[in-house]
Amino acid sequence: METLTAQHIELAPGYSISRVINGCWQLSQGHALKAPVDFDDVCYGFHGLVERGFTTFDCGDIYTGVEEFLGSFVDELKASSEGPGPDDIQIHTKYVPDLDILAQVDYAHTSSIIERSLTRLHREALDLVQFHWWDYSVPGYVETALNLLKLKEQGKIRNIGVTNFDAPHLKEIVDAGVPVVSCQSQFSMFDRRPQYRLIPYFLEAGIKHVCYGTLSGGLLSERMMGLASFDPENRSQVKYMQVLEDSLGWNGYQRLLTLLKDIADAHGVQLSHVATRYILDQPTVAATIIGVRNSKHVDDNLKIFSFDLTPAEKDSITALLDEYPRLEGDCYTLERESPRYKGIIHMNVDATEQQPPQAS
Ligand SMILES: NC(=O)c1ccc[n+]([C@@H]2O[C@H](COP(=O)([O-])OP(=O)(O)OC[C@H]3O[C@@H](n4cnc5c(N)ncnc54)[C@H](OP(=O)(O)O)[C@@H]3O)[C@@H](O)[C@H]2O)c1
Repeated sequence: METLTAQHIELAPGYSISRVINGCWQLSQGHALKAPVDFDDVCYGFHGLVERGFTTFDCGDIYTGVEEFLGSFVDELKASSEGPGPDDIQIHTKYVPDLDILAQVDYAHTSSIIERSLTRLHREALDLVQFHWWDYSVPGYVETALNLLKLKEQGKIRNIGVTNFDAPHLKEIVDAGVPVVSCQSQFSMFDRRPQYRLIPYFLEAGIKHVCYGTLSGGLLSERMMGLASFDPENRSQVKYMQVLEDSLGWNGYQRLLTLLKDIADAHGVQLSHVATRYILDQPTVAATIIGVRNSKHVDDNLKIFSFDLTPAEKDSITALLDEYPRLEGDCYTLERESPRYKGIIHMNVDATEQQPPQAS
């Protein structure tokens, strides 16, 4: 019998990734509000994930401590004479200049952050750099993307992507000649904003979609069924509870969980696998990112690749979602403009969280 492994997909010519990416925001300092992360268990989980074909990792220059942790994982793979080596994994990072310094971002800044990521990750070239810009009213995002292209031409970066861009601003970058291969954005049963403008543009421009929020921080799982309320355990859940309030509401959410559980039972999988499969099957979606904060879902999540949703099952999910309000606007517009959404985002991490403690 053929052994089940995670599916892979070509993100750019000659560059393949796993269709479920191991998300590492969960490992950054300050993400957990309750139980702290056990990094030995996570490292054990990483080895298990890679052995099962989940070879791609997502991190960011502003995920405090995470690039360094992945660098130590790269060293472990280098040191081991058996099994996958460092070239068998792909590490996607981000370039997220702080809001307060956007007006000063220039080639020297971009180059220094890329060099810092290379040093932290113990890599000769970064597999994918996903560029983010907090405020479009500050000029410079097109020039900065062109500076990333210069660094690509120098061999420091293999592929350029973006994250949290809306369709018109992404188009500006593409039209300036930056070969953007992917865009990372929030796309889940709670948040279908990419369907308004971004996905139609991806289809036109041949850009691949990499999605986060698919499990909404674990809210789309069996353990939430039948609860009357929930107190968030981490920053992902704070964010997705807000999205939930503005879309399905608690009753709609509980109805969705029941429907997903019925579909999951019919396939012998978990509710979270149905939530992931539904997003993976949407047009232009190359991969979803699922956050890892322990080793407990390593075996479970292979089941995402063990079944297909029938057209009737997909239609029943969409029909339920369509009964409720949808978040409005293009991707990340609420996060840029609504004080309620903006208020929970940390936009100056490099300056405020990543500096070594000052001597008193
Ligand atoms: N570009 C951006 O602005 C941005 C923003 C957010 C996230 N991201 C990326 O996306 C990644 C995912 O983050 P997210 O916040 O969207 O979280 P998520 O992937 O929706 O949720 C992750 C949580 O789901 C739970 N889970 C995993 N597999 C499960 C399973 N089979 N059954 C039940 N629960 C399961 C785990 O919680 P337990 O371990 O507690 O069960 C895990 O911590 C991040 O790490 C980051 O790489 C990017």
